[in-house]
Amino acid sequence: MHSSDFGKDFLWGVATAAAQIEGAANSYGKGPSIWDTFAKRTGKTKKGHNPSEACDFYHRYQEDIALVKTLGFKVFRFSIAWARIFPLGRGQINQDGIRFYNNVIDECLKLDLIPMVTLYHWDLPESLSKEGGWTAFGINAWFNEYVAFCAKEYGNKVKHWVVINEPFGFTSLGYMLGVHAPGQTGVHNFFDAALHTAIAQAEGAKILRAEVKNAIIGTAFSCSEIVPYTQSAQDLLAAKRTDALMNRFFLEPVLGMGFPTADWEVLEKFAISHSTWRYQERMKFDFDFIGLQNYFPLVIKYNAFIPVVQAWEVKAKNRRAPHTAMGWEINANSFYRIIKQFAAYPQVNNIMVTENGAYFQDHLVDGKVNDQARIHYFKAYLAAMLKAKNEGVNITGYLAWTLMDNFEWAEGYQARFGLVHNDFKTQQRTIKQSGYWWQDFLSL
Ligand code: BGC
Repeated sequence: MHSSDFGKDFLWGVATAAAQIEGAANSYGKGPSIWDTFAKRTGKTKKGHNPSEACDFYHRYQEDIALVKTLGFKVFRFSIAWARIFPLGRGQINQDGIRFYNNVIDECLKLDLIPMVTLYHWDLPESLSKEGGWTAFGINAWFNEYVAFCAKEYGNKVKHWVVINEPFGFTSLGYMLGVHAPGQTGVHNFFDAALHTAIAQAEGAKILRAEVKNAIIGTAFSCSEIVPYTQSAQDLLAAKRTDALMNRFFLEPVLGMGFPTADWEVLEKFAISHSTWRYQERMKFDFDFIGLQNYFPLVIKYNAFIPVVQAWEVKAKNRRAPHTAMGWEINANSFYRIIKQFAAYPQVNNIMVTENGAYFQDHLVDGKVNDQARIHYFKAYLAAMLKAKNEGVNITGYLAWTLMDNFEWAEGYQARFGLVHNDFKTQQRTIKQSGYWWQDFLSL
């Protein structure tokens, strides 16, 4: 398998996110984000790690973007920290922040890399969170103001956009389970946040369409193939509910189908209580590409004790299935199948894999990280993607997660997903063997 098997226009890249790499979290005029404050609360992140320094990309962006080029990629995906542009989330702007992203974009263009900008990768300005964050009615207007500003400021140079990174990821972890920022819990918070996010996703895209000439607009969904543990009616239904929540809940409104309420009365109740039919048009947008982000499949079993979804994951290690250091099952066939599941919607006619990658226990020995497991992972996942592509799915790009080891949210700095190793004490970057593998792969 060579990269050329995917066609000469295929977009190969790496993805990153502001809060995970930038650092300089409290300087150059940036306002605090919910991750800055959440990480300071006891017990919220492993070892109390916080994103205040991260990879210091803020000062080292030139060196890091040069690495993207060295590895042979064409696309550099990064996100804008909302609170760096609007320290309070809206109103007053921060010139240093605006300049920083201009510099990052210019550096990409100078090296002939395509800058792909994510507008929201989980780092909501703290001051908006105090007003309710994604659960607040006002969030759509605040988000639109921010998007319009970015579109006007950067739209002449940036054509590739991702409106929101993994709506299900941050609304479920941050507003229902409370394990990510802002640490809220409860079904109510989740559904309020979800509705506003579904609207923001499409409205942000509409603003980009209006403001940016020749924009290529996508949004990025997390997804997982859902496999019932047994063929019992209860397990089958539990799997169906999980699929509705994890794979269909944010995608179908975008496609004009509304929320997937038919298969599950909890979603039906939510739709009724929030009159979601009223927002059907606002949640719809004909995206130029659908960003698909996949890390693992889930095996699901019925469990009456789990509130709302009554479903429980049977972990990979308990099934003796191969898994990463994160505990996530390694299963390239399931990647193939979830791509096919997304491609089966007639409205989905361009898929870009906007994230995929793995955390393994890496060891830096004599200036080298010999991460063979990661190389195997990529080889298998790329072969699965090629199979789907050869069967006619229009997949136009693939972005590896991630350029370098970074602040892995609640897992802190110990979960390393990078193609480049980072020493967080010295900020020394070392290309891992997987990075060199990519370099070879992309040269043929
Ligand atoms: C997120 C990334 C995260 C990665 C690995 C994705 O869900 O978009 O920010 O680092 O998964 O956990």
